[in-house]
Amino acid sequence: MRASAPGKIILFGEHAVVYGRHAVVTAINLRCYAEAKKSNSFKIHSPIATTGIDYEKHPYISYAIKRFMEIKPIDGAEIKIESEVPIASGLGSSAAVSVAVLKALDAEFDAGLSNEEIFELARKVELDVQGIGSGTDPFVSTYGGTWLIPERKRIKLEKLKIIVVDSGEKSVTAEMVAKVAELRKKLTDVVERVFDVIDAVSLKALNGDIPKLFKINQCMLKALGVSTRKIDEIVQKLEEMGIAAKLTGAGGGGSIIGVGSEDALEKARKLFNAIIVEPEQEGARVED
Ligand code: PMV
Repeated sequence: MRASAPGKIILFGEHAVVYGRHAVVTAINLRCYAEAKKSNSFKIHSPIATTGIDYEKHPYISYAIKRFMEIKPIDGAEIKIESEVPIASGLGSSAAVSVAVLKALDAEFDAGLSNEEIFELARKVELDVQGIGSGTDPFVSTYGGTWLIPERKRIKLEKLKIIVVDSGEKSVTAEMVAKVAELRKKLTDVVERVFDVIDAVSLKALNGDIPKLFKINQCMLKALGVSTRKIDEIVQKLEEMGIAAKLTGAGGGGSIIGVGSEDALEKARKLFNAIIVEPEQEGARVED
C-alpha cells in the first residue's frame, strides 16, 4: 500500500518557541510518498540508496520500521520512497518520511493505528534519530493544517501562496539554537524582549497582514544572529520584487519564505529556481 505525508514550514516564531513563545507552523502541499509491500526480508529503496534496515543511510525509515514492529511484528517489507519535500532545508522532510512509512506499514499490515498512534511512533522516531526535538514536525505532518504552537490549536489563516527559496547554505538546527542560547546568556533582558516581539507577531498573524509580520519577524531573527549575508541578500532582492520575506526554521542557511502577488511570486520563482507552496489541510493519508 502507498501512503503519503506532507512537509511543513514555520511561518512565524522559530527560536522564540524554544523559550515558550508562540509560533505558527503549517503543513505544505509537498508530500513524501512511501509504498510498503509484504516481503520475507527488509528492503528500502529511496533516492539516497537501496539498503536493508540501515540506521546510517536510512535512519528515519529504519527506526520507523523498528517502532512499527514493537506494535506489530512482521517478517519483512519492501519500502519505496519518493519525495517532493527537499531534504535538509527545514521543510520537515525527516518527519514526512517517518509518518509516510508508518502510515504505509499500517495500511499494508492492517495494524489499525489511529493518527494519534502514528504521531506517537513518529515522535519516538524523531527522538531515536535526533535525541532531541519538539515533536512539532511529526505532529504537523500527521495531522496536516496550520497550527498555533505550543497550544497545538488548529488555526485558519488568509489564503496564502508562499515562495520557498533555498539559500544554498546548510542549516544546522542544533548550532543555531546554541548560538541563540549564548546570546541570551549574555544579553538576557534584550533577547527576552526580542522573543516577546516574535511572540506578538505570531499571535497577530491570526488576524492577517502576513507581509508586514514577515518583515518584522525577519528583523528579529537578524537581531538574534541567525540570518546570514546570503539570506539577507535574498530577502532584499525579494523585497525589491514586491515580496515580503523571512528565513524559515533555524537559520544560518536553509530556506527563505515570502508572500506577494502571483505575478511577483512567479517572477521570483524563475529567478531563484524556487518552489511555490500552499498550506495543506490534509495530513497522512493512504493513496491507494
Ligand atoms: O529548521 P527546523 O525545522 O529544524 O526548525 C527549527 C526551529 C527552532 O525554533 C529553531 C528550533 C525548535 O526546535 O523549535
